[in-house]
Amino acid sequence: MTLLTTLSTELDQMAQAGTLKRELPLRTPQGAVVEVEGKGEVIMLTSNNYLGLANHPAIVAAAEKAEGDYGYGLASVRFICGTQTIHRILEKRISEFFGMEETILYGSCWNANEGLFQTILTDEDAIISDELNHASIIDGIRLAKCRKERYKNRDVADLRRALDATRDARNRLIMTDGVFSMEGSLAPLPEMVQLAREHGAFLVVDDSHGTGVLGKTGRGTAEELGVFGKIDAYTSTLGKALGGSHGGFTTGPKVLIDYLRQKSRPYLFSNTLPPAVVMGSIAALDLLEKDTSFVDRLRRNTMHFRRGLTERGVRIREGITPIVPILIGDTAKAIAISAELLDHGIFVSGFGFPVVPQGQARLRCQISAAHTTEQLDRAITAIVEVGQKYGVVAG
Ligand SMILES: Cc1ncc(COP(=O)(O)O)c(C=O)c1O
Repeated sequence: MTLLTTLSTELDQMAQAGTLKRELPLRTPQGAVVEVEGKGEVIMLTSNNYLGLANHPAIVAAAEKAEGDYGYGLASVRFICGTQTIHRILEKRISEFFGMEETILYGSCWNANEGLFQTILTDEDAIISDELNHASIIDGIRLAKCRKERYKNRDVADLRRALDATRDARNRLIMTDGVFSMEGSLAPLPEMVQLAREHGAFLVVDDSHGTGVLGKTGRGTAEELGVFGKIDAYTSTLGKALGGSHGGFTTGPKVLIDYLRQKSRPYLFSNTLPPAVVMGSIAALDLLEKDTSFVDRLRRNTMHFRRGLTERGVRIREGITPIVPILIGDTAKAIAISAELLDHGIFVSGFGFPVVPQGQARLRCQISAAHTTEQLDRAITAIVEVGQKYGVVAG
C-alpha cells in the first residue's frame, strides 16, 4: 500500500494547506445563473461560456435533432468508420471561419495540441514556445522529439533570441496562446507574424480563449490585432465560446491537415466527436456568423465589469478580454475568498499553484454575453465587500 499511502499523505497536506480544489455540483444547465447543490442560485462568473451559448435553445435543438438523425455515437475513430457527412461539414465551416484551407477535428483542443508537435517535428526541427502557454501545449511539446526553446511571456525580444538560437534547425514552429488564460492578456501577434516571416518560421496560435470572443466578428485574437489571415495555423476549442460542449480542432494549410489526418495519434486512436456535439457546434457558428450581437454584448459586459471593479479600487490585470484576474497572492486566501463569495451568491474560482506560479494566486472572473448589467453590478459589490474583509481591496 506504499503508493496509496504516499498519495494520501500528499492529499492530507493539501487539505491542511487549504489548497484542495473543490468541485461544486450544479443542478442546472450552465448559464449566467446556476443552482449549486446546497447553495441555491448563484451568478456564474467563472465559466468559459463567453457567448452564453452553452444552453442556447437553437444549439440544444440542433443537438437533439442530430441524435435523432445521426444517433448517439459512432463507436469508432474517424478513419475506420467514424466519419459522417456532418463531420466534414463542420470542418469546412471552421476552415471558412478562420480563412484556412482545411480543418481536422479532435476530441478536445488538448488532443489537438497533443497531436500536433510530436507528429510534424523531428530532432532536426525546433519548437519555440511562450513560457505561459497552456498545459496542453507544454505536455504536447514534451511528447515531441524536436529541439525545444522557451521564451519569456509575450516578450518579442526574447522570441527573437530564441529564433536566433535555433537558426540551424531544419524547420521551426513558434507556438503561442492567443489569449493567456490565467492572465487575460494577448500574444503580440503583429510582431510575431513579422518575426516568423523574417526567420522563415511557422506560426501556430492556440486561440481557445479568443475564438468567438475577440475581434469585431469573433474570429479571434488575430482579428482583434489586425493580423487575421497572417497566422499559419490555429488550434482551438469547441468547448468554450462555440457552444461550450466538447471538441477541438487544428485549422491551417491543406498539406498540414492531410498529414495530421494520416499520422496524428489522438486523431487516429481516439473516438470521433458525437453527432450532437458536431451539429451543436455548427449551430453555434450559425449564430456567430449571422450577426455580431453576441460578440458586441460580451464586449460591453466586459468593459462594464472591468470599469466597475477598477472604480471601486479592485486591483485587476488591465486588458480587453473577458478574463478578468483579481490578484490575491496566497493560494489559501484566494480559495477562502472564492468560498465566501459563493455564500454571497457569486461563483468565481480561486486559482493557485501549480495552475499559476507560486505567490500569484488569483480569482479569475470570466464574463459572458449572457450576464445582465444588474448581475455584473451585484458581483462587483460582493467582490468589493469580501475583498475588503480579506484586506485585498482598500476599505
Ligand atoms: C489555451 C487553451 N488551450 C487548450 C485548452 C484545452 O481545451 P479543451 O477543453 O478543448 O481540451 C484550454 C482549456 O482550458 C486552453 O485554455
